[in-house]
Amino acid sequence: MLDVIIREMTEEDIESVRKVGQRTWSDVATRDAGHKVRYPLRPREIVRAYMWKEPQGCLVAERKGEVVASAFCHAWGRVGWVGPFEVLPEMQNQGIGTSLMHRCEDFLTSRGCSVLGLETMPYFMRNLHFYLRLGYVPGELTFITENRELASEKGAGVEELEHPMEDALSSSITRLSNSLTPGLDYSREFEMTLKMGVGRCFVLQRGKVLQGAAIMHDYYPKGEADHASLRLLLVNPRIKERREAFLSLLDACENAVKDEGRKRLFARFSASHPLLYDELRERSYRLEGANIRLVKGRYHEKGGYHLSAWAG
Ligand SMILES: CC(C)(COP(=O)(O)OP(=O)(O)OC[C@H]1O[C@@H](n2cnc3c(N)ncnc32)[C@H](O)[C@@H]1OP(=O)(O)O)[C@@H](O)C(=O)NCCC(=O)NCCS
Repeated sequence: MLDVIIREMTEEDIESVRKVGQRTWSDVATRDAGHKVRYPLRPREIVRAYMWKEPQGCLVAERKGEVVASAFCHAWGRVGWVGPFEVLPEMQNQGIGTSLMHRCEDFLTSRGCSVLGLETMPYFMRNLHFYLRLGYVPGELTFITENRELASEKGAGVEELEHPMEDALSSSITRLSNSLTPGLDYSREFEMTLKMGVGRCFVLQRGKVLQGAAIMHDYYPKGEADHASLRLLLVNPRIKERREAFLSLLDACENAVKDEGRKRLFARFSASHPLLYDELRERSYRLEGANIRLVKGRYHEKGGYHLSAWAG
């Protein structure tokens, strides 16, 4: 391989990492569309947020003093995933991605992850080959949906969280995640969103029971983007009123997006939840794309109302 070192990302790398992302995805989109496409720069805020969440799991590949590739690892309890993952176009096919991916896997394993995964576009043979040859196995399809008809209802009983999140609530989110998939823990994703100001978090509680929780990410500046993304939405599988809880949380997120003057909300989720596609279609979500999860280790996402994606 080329003379490349892989090391932890630092604050000084942030601008280079943003440019690597922009150049890499502009190249992918340009080839795909057959005409020139320029991707926006990823906002600094989300890069900083990922670095706060996993300081040793945000990595760069450096060659001759320049950042040529970058990767972000996310440890959700025992479930670890990687994304975004980018190698500059002119540096591809020289083994850099492979070395970087090995380092990501070492990091996630050291954080106690027994499931490793990522999501990628199933129609890019290059990507499929890249991960298959590293031992990843195709798992679930994930849908990317978009809604342009956002709700105006605030979401019955839903409260918006403020920073800092109470310890007791963080523990309830850990327990709720664990009840969806053993060992899964979304609590740090909520902490990151609140602390780093990259989105808004909502919970639905009845008495001491956490019925559900959601994260909406809105880190693209309003002047540059009219969309936000539903990062996570979880409903307690043990309660009776699961559908009501789901709809209330969805209302709260859509209403918050609308309130900010944005027009669109993206929601990504696994195709293995049979209810979700129909429910979201009823709410005017339209299918925009699909990714495939590639996984090492046993993973099956549970919970009827569980929206989540391994995409950064
Ligand atoms: C996917 C990506 C990260 C791989 O990084 P890389 O540095 O090019 O990867 P490597 O050089 O280590 O390995 C590339 C492999 O793909 C193979 N490959 C290249 N083009 C291919 C094609 N069209 N079809 C099939 N395989 C292809 C190479 O031969 C090599 O496999 P081999 O070692 O078995 O021969 C990089 O291409 C990239 O940044 N792509 C754009 C962004 C992206 O898609 N990121 C991943 C999102 S999940």
